Amino acid sequence: MQDQVTEKFNVLKKGTGKGNDFLGWIDLPSAISDNDLQEIEEAAEKLKKKSEIIVVIGIGGSYLGAKAVNDALSNSLEMLMSKKENPVMIFAGHNIGEDYMHELLQTLEGNDYSIVVISKSGTTTEPAIAFRILKDHLTKKYDRKEATSRIIAITDEKKGALRTLANEEGYETFVIPDDIGGRYSVLTPVGLVPLAACGFNIRELVKGALDMQKKGLESAELEKNPAARYAAARNVLYQKGKKIEILVNYHNKLHYVAEWWKQLYGESEGKDGKGIYPAAVDNSSDLHSMGQYIQEGERLLFETVLSIKKSDHDVEIPKDDKNLDGLNYLAGKKIDVVNKMAELGTTLAHIDGGVPNMRIEIPVLNAYYIGQLMYFFELACGISGYLLEVNPFNQPGVEAYKKNMFALLEKPGFEEETKKIKKRI
Ligand code: PA5
Repeated sequence: MQDQVTEKFNVLKKGTGKGNDFLGWIDLPSAISDNDLQEIEEAAEKLKKKSEIIVVIGIGGSYLGAKAVNDALSNSLEMLMSKKENPVMIFAGHNIGEDYMHELLQTLEGNDYSIVVISKSGTTTEPAIAFRILKDHLTKKYDRKEATSRIIAITDEKKGALRTLANEEGYETFVIPDDIGGRYSVLTPVGLVPLAACGFNIRELVKGALDMQKKGLESAELEKNPAARYAAARNVLYQKGKKIEILVNYHNKLHYVAEWWKQLYGESEGKDGKGIYPAAVDNSSDLHSMGQYIQEGERLLFETVLSIKKSDHDVEIPKDDKNLDGLNYLAGKKIDVVNKMAELGTTLAHIDGGVPNMRIEIPVLNAYYIGQLMYFFELACGISGYLLEVNPFNQPGVEAYKKNMFALLEKPGFEEETKKIKKRI
């Protein structure tokens, strides 16, 4: 694959390929200045100081990056902790669930909160509905002036309904650059503002991404460039009939990193009748559900394992004098020792079962390494999409459902579509 990878790597780096007006993410880590970060931190601090909850309104690329980093780096049971150091991040507009919205409004009654509303287009229906409802709630809970000071809008510099609204109402705003698509936007204000408002170290996140940018853009050589290697390997597997890639983790906190990755690769590669289907499992939980299929089902799978080398905390398995559960052979061992053997045992079993495995080792789960990992996946996705000969930076397919939904909702401007769809149903 070396020649093909070198060619695609150069096309990406020189910006001569498909979708080359959406390559702003490539140099993003090095382009973010200290001033940019300071501005974000200052705005975020204002919300942080007076909020127990930060409601982040957004969907797809305007939601998954912040959610992935938040979940990877926060206490899994944070919601239940009585004393919290930082505001808790909660989402809205990432679904249209009425019961979810009802429960969210109920929760917000008893808590001080602020809103970060994110939409690049400024017109996406799900976040727009959520913002209309929550803006109304916020204004009733506080007064208008206070509510305005509790809202940050992140959107296009000039166009879209959210931009108009923000200008009209006087919200603090940040811009999503034109040349960065939603799924590549975690290191723009889209990810950085909500994360900073909830107390995460965005400088470490950017630093990690920057180190991976340096490493990833230096050379196309498979031996030297992990992103190029990953892109090449998954394309070889695809050509051999492995149509589904499962991103595997052994650390529950990585669940949403996998969701973010699914969007990145699914939207980037699934087009023109092609593309690896990105799936994910959380082990060892899913070894007790999907494990059977992976071991013995259709042989169209390969796996990429995200392995955390060192857990943050030590929890030892105690000795029990009666040993009725027969576990004394593990007494004195850290739980992570068992987890690692589950990982190794599974990898070997799956390889034996015809499921090729790749492994990405993350030294420790912190902002720096998550930054590295995210940039690594973005770069690999660009190379991989070009190897697949698709445009990895558009998503024409996501419009189809919207057109039908608007026709069914009788949105002005969709009269013809409404007539057609009504005949069909
Ligand atoms: O990756 C993408 O481009 C999409 O997932 C968008 O992020 C998503 O549709 C939300 O769009 P917007 O930010 O315009 O509301």
